[in-house]
Amino acid sequence: MPKSDTALSPETLAIRAGTNRTEFGEHGEAIFTTSSFVFNNAAEAAARFAGDEEGFIYSRFSNPTVESFENRLASLEGGEACIATSSGMSAILTTVLSLLEQGDHIVAASSMFGSTVTLFEKLLPRLGITCSWVDVTDLDAWQQAIAKNTRMLFLETPTNPLTEIADITRLSSLARQTNTLLVVDNCFCTPALQKPLELGADYVVHSATKYLDGQGRCVGGAVVGPQETIKTQFLAFMRSGGPAMSPFNAWVFNRGLETLSLRMQRHCENASQLAQWLQQQRWVKRVCFPGLPDHPQHQLAKQQQQGFGGVVSFEVADKQQAWRLIDRTRLLSITANLGDTRTTITHPASTTHGRLSESSRQRAGINQGLIRVAVGLEHINDIVDDLDQAASESG
Ligand SMILES: Cc1ncc(COP(=O)(O)O)c(C=O)c1O
Repeated sequence: MPKSDTALSPETLAIRAGTNRTEFGEHGEAIFTTSSFVFNNAAEAAARFAGDEEGFIYSRFSNPTVESFENRLASLEGGEACIATSSGMSAILTTVLSLLEQGDHIVAASSMFGSTVTLFEKLLPRLGITCSWVDVTDLDAWQQAIAKNTRMLFLETPTNPLTEIADITRLSSLARQTNTLLVVDNCFCTPALQKPLELGADYVVHSATKYLDGQGRCVGGAVVGPQETIKTQFLAFMRSGGPAMSPFNAWVFNRGLETLSLRMQRHCENASQLAQWLQQQRWVKRVCFPGLPDHPQHQLAKQQQQGFGGVVSFEVADKQQAWRLIDRTRLLSITANLGDTRTTITHPASTTHGRLSESSRQRAGINQGLIRVAVGLEHINDIVDDLDQAASESG
């Protein structure tokens, strides 16, 4: 690359950073679909395994294609290092198990993706790691929930599916004051719209499955943070815990990153138009989208993000009306994924948050009338027309 990485703009980094060209000089990246790497002799093998010599060993530890994706994402997030994982959930699990131990405590936002809530509420306590829940927007509640054994503050912003916004700068100051680590799930914004590390967060986690891929093809995840821990504790967990990303998926995500910034712009524009249209419909009780001036954290989203994202949630009367509306869409895909070129629609209370107990769902603010639309890249008129005809048919 002609300039140092830091001098290049994000659009260029998304296309050029992390490129590993082989001796053949290929322009598109090669995929290294190999499970292991060959050594010249037994001594070299021993040196690599012992960490005395740099180099690849086995694709559960690292792989050139995966490393290329890791370097590209780290440079986009403005982080020192990245470790790619098999899914977004394994990125979160890897972060927790690489940094915390039995007896540690997490303070987490009550409104988050359902599997993250289940992991923190049901699985981590079995390992002796406990969690307290707070309103993501309430700074005093975060402060009050921090106990002597709290090691981590964990949040998504915007949250899935209610699009609430956390103040990353203020929460990172709180983390520093209390000697805790701030981890931000940047899935909804991506580095094209928000850079939590520059705002003071310690780690960023991703579901690469969403906007980083951008076309709903592969499942994957990533953690970006300081070299010091990613290359030691996190890598040690990867070697023995095994949640590695496949080289093929890394190759797909690398291609996805190349168009991230362009796609995010269009996701934001389409979502903004859909949110404004929904607000005018008499069958809609409430619209959640940070770009609307009456969203409670609109000003914060404006300061913290370079766009409002592609997810719009809205509330109708009840579950029956929500299901009727979803069933009558013809263009939109009824699926729980998001960040795709195709607009998706889902009923969070019975899908993404369906495994939560009623009380956890209420704590997260997810009621039965809520619908989440992850706005894709189709023409906005077609998206609006589909919802309009679905609403008129469902009465
Ligand atoms: C905000 C958020 N974080 C994490 C995940 C988990 O990602 P994955 O499905 O790649 O495991 C999701 C999945 O929907 C999500 O929406």
